[in-house]
Amino acid sequence: MTMPTPVCPYRMQVHSIHQETPDVWSISLINHDFYPYQPGQHALVCIANRADTLRAYTLSSSPGLSRFITLTVRRLDNGIGSRWLTGQLKPGDYLWLSDAEGEFTCTHAVSDQYLMLAAGCGVTPIMSMCRWLLAHRPQTDISVIVNVRDPQQVIFANEWQALRQRYPQQLQLTLMAENNASEGFLHGRITQDILSRQVPDIAHRTVMTCGPIPYMKQVEALCTQAGVAANHVYREHFGAPETSADIGSEQLTMTISHLLRQVNVPVGISLLAALESHKVPVNAACRAGVCGSCKTRILSGQYVTTSTATLTQDEISQGYVLACSCQLQGDVVLA
Ligand code: FES
Repeated sequence: MTMPTPVCPYRMQVHSIHQETPDVWSISLINHDFYPYQPGQHALVCIANRADTLRAYTLSSSPGLSRFITLTVRRLDNGIGSRWLTGQLKPGDYLWLSDAEGEFTCTHAVSDQYLMLAAGCGVTPIMSMCRWLLAHRPQTDISVIVNVRDPQQVIFANEWQALRQRYPQQLQLTLMAENNASEGFLHGRITQDILSRQVPDIAHRTVMTCGPIPYMKQVEALCTQAGVAANHVYREHFGAPETSADIGSEQLTMTISHLLRQVNVPVGISLLAALESHKVPVNAACRAGVCGSCKTRILSGQYVTTSTATLTQDEISQGYVLACSCQLQGDVVLA
């Protein structure tokens, strides 16, 4: 079988597909070569062997500990990648993966005390790191808080309980459900009160969080208010579309110089979504700030970026951004 793109050189065979929750599946892959990765990292996956359709997924397995390379994927109604992976892929099929990527990993952190905060599918890198830390760093002390809408949405529910029993001194697990909180769950969303009650020594911990952007912003603010140094908070984000909480009702003007066009888009929208909503052609393979295919130049304006992974310092100073990882904050002029 020919490699569909040099970006994804690792061919792996699907061993099995396991349903974790009503809308999340774990795909276990047999890898015939050595695949170097660190706990918490992600990889690009070539969807349906198409070189122009790459999507980023966390490697939910842990290096050296898991029998298979595992991807854990939430099926999104409008997600080309997730629908294919969870609906059409079957055991025996082959998948192509990129090198492992990402800085969201515990292997270079110096701390032995962690607070891991996860919401929804954000638990996948957290599980990968917890499994690895508990096995390799006996002195580790990890407090994990997992937030879900409903108790049945806890991903890796059995494995969390097994880890808690196996490492009672090192792992404190708190499960929180917004609705129908049953035994073993705290009800509602995370608050300052809950944080100080569950993690009284929070100020001394390294915080790692993964989930939707509004959730991560909220927990980051709560942690810094509770005394965690800002440079001890690490967050991961990729691939999730903007939610209404990220996008305001206020509009901004986007000028596309080479097309002599001016359009209005909401403040907070990603540049990629802004371009696509006005049918401006833009290459976007991973939509996750990883592959670099959506590189676009902004001549002036206000924006923030969540990934500049493939850009050089020179390009950044010339105004280049990754459209999928750039949120527009005010009027902008594109090249
Ligand atoms: S689409 Fe890959 S970096 Fe933006």
